[in-house]
Amino acid sequence: MVNIPINILVIDDDPKVSWILSEGLGTGYAIDNARDGMEGINKLTKLPVGRRPELVLLDIQMPGMNGIDVLEKIRGLDNNVDVIMLSGHGDTKNIVESVKRGAAEFINKPFDVREVEIHIKSVLEKRKLRAEVSQLQEKLRESRKESLIGDSPGMMEVKNIIEEVADSDLTVLILGDSGTGKEIVARLIHGHSPRRKEPFVKVNCAAIPRDLLEAELFGYEKGAFTGAHKTKPGRFEVANKGTMFLDEIGDMPMELQSKLLQVLEQQEFVRVGGINNIHVDVRIVCATNKNLEEAIAQGHMRDDLFYRLNEITISLPSLRNRKSDIPLLVDHFLEKHSLLYNKPRKELKQETIRLLQNFDWPGNVRQLENLIKQIVVRSDENIIFDTLKGPIPSQGRKGPIVDIDDDDFAMKAKVEQAVAEVEKLLITKALHKTNWNRRKAAKMLDISYRSLLYKIKDYKIID
Ligand SMILES: Nc1ncnc2c1ncn2[C@@H]1O[C@H](COP(=O)(O)OP(=O)(O)OP(=O)(O)O)[C@@H](O)[C@H]1O
Ligand SMILES: [Mg+2]
Repeated sequence: MVNIPINILVIDDDPKVSWILSEGLGTGYAIDNARDGMEGINKLTKLPVGRRPELVLLDIQMPGMNGIDVLEKIRGLDNNVDVIMLSGHGDTKNIVESVKRGAAEFINKPFDVREVEIHIKSVLEKRKLRAEVSQLQEKLRESRKESLIGDSPGMMEVKNIIEEVADSDLTVLILGDSGTGKEIVARLIHGHSPRRKEPFVKVNCAAIPRDLLEAELFGYEKGAFTGAHKTKPGRFEVANKGTMFLDEIGDMPMELQSKLLQVLEQQEFVRVGGINNIHVDVRIVCATNKNLEEAIAQGHMRDDLFYRLNEITISLPSLRNRKSDIPLLVDHFLEKHSLLYNKPRKELKQETIRLLQNFDWPGNVRQLENLIKQIVVRSDENIIFDTLKGPIPSQGRKGPIVDIDDDDFAMKAKVEQAVAEVEKLLITKALHKTNWNRRKAAKMLDISYRSLLYKIKDYKIID
């Protein structure tokens, strides 16, 4: 096995330092050097990825930028390099300062090369551990994202059905109020099915403009309409061999329902502007919080499609009907968000949990999750009382929302920032007021449901 040498950059105005290290450390290390801070930073940013240093040895006393300032700059670079400080004078103040700013170790000059090697090995060992921990965290995050928490009878039944149907290719219709976990269930069905290694493609029928939905789902041929410069496969083709999750199926326009029915019955369709049948092997899972029988009665839904989609129905209970699951969910979300946001793991007092169990949760699990997330991120349990009391107040905000007293007159950026801040605040308020019902919030904000979904994602407001 060829050992790839560890790249080390020595930033020191004294060229002897890197020379001694190249001679003394041996072949396991590739030493590069920079004579001052600027040159060092340039090398850190401009070197090709494979040659970027894993480790920097940084002198504190240098002409021009001193080591502490260079360290600050390196930390701001958002790269994953470790820094060992070289201090010529045993200068305690600088050492303390550099440790505060993220230096991994420090070595007093003059040094013995063997001593340097021990420090380097210890830093590299810590680095390896760090990488392992973050890999584990990532795995944990992934597994937590997909788990369906709850052992109430209603949830146990849901879990049983998922297990029973995952193996088959039956079409599943998932029903439940907003925030009850329909999307998790859809992902679990795919994750437990023989198709799990193939794509899971989600299309939210309510979020895509009606006139674009057909092209999005079924693709189009070159020249099918103005702007169709080249042939584009649709989402059904992307989902081939995997699972297609049609979210908010109750919002699929009537014109498209017959085309969907054809996919369900013959696994075939024609691209927009095309003539050839395209064959796909796709399992369909769909979800809605609308009452589809009502939609049929009102003429918005084809009954033949409904019966075809409805081979298996999974009805998710609202949170108020399974309050015994609240302690488990709270625990799960405390864990999930402390991992995601790298915050200390909190516990809530028993009486607080009882309080949460007495609440009706009109926004269901999404509302509960969002509350726990805020508790973790803001480290403040008292937020609970605001939620339980009702919608958040407007946070007492008066006057401009961006700083207009500084010397920055660039108007476009400021105005954009102000618009974004106002939008974020209004959306958050509307979501609180509607208990996280996004459809109602969109109405209240007088924007389309689709643009609300985009903005929630863009501003990272939930999920
Ligand atoms: N049983 C559960 N266990 C763990 N997390 C859950 C559970 N139910 C819902 N969640 C979490 O709540 C949030 C909302 O769930 P999801 O997006 O699946 O809801 P939904 O039913 O699709 O809602 P909508 O109709 O509004 O789209 C997600 O962050 C999800 O992780
Ligand atoms: Mg959903």
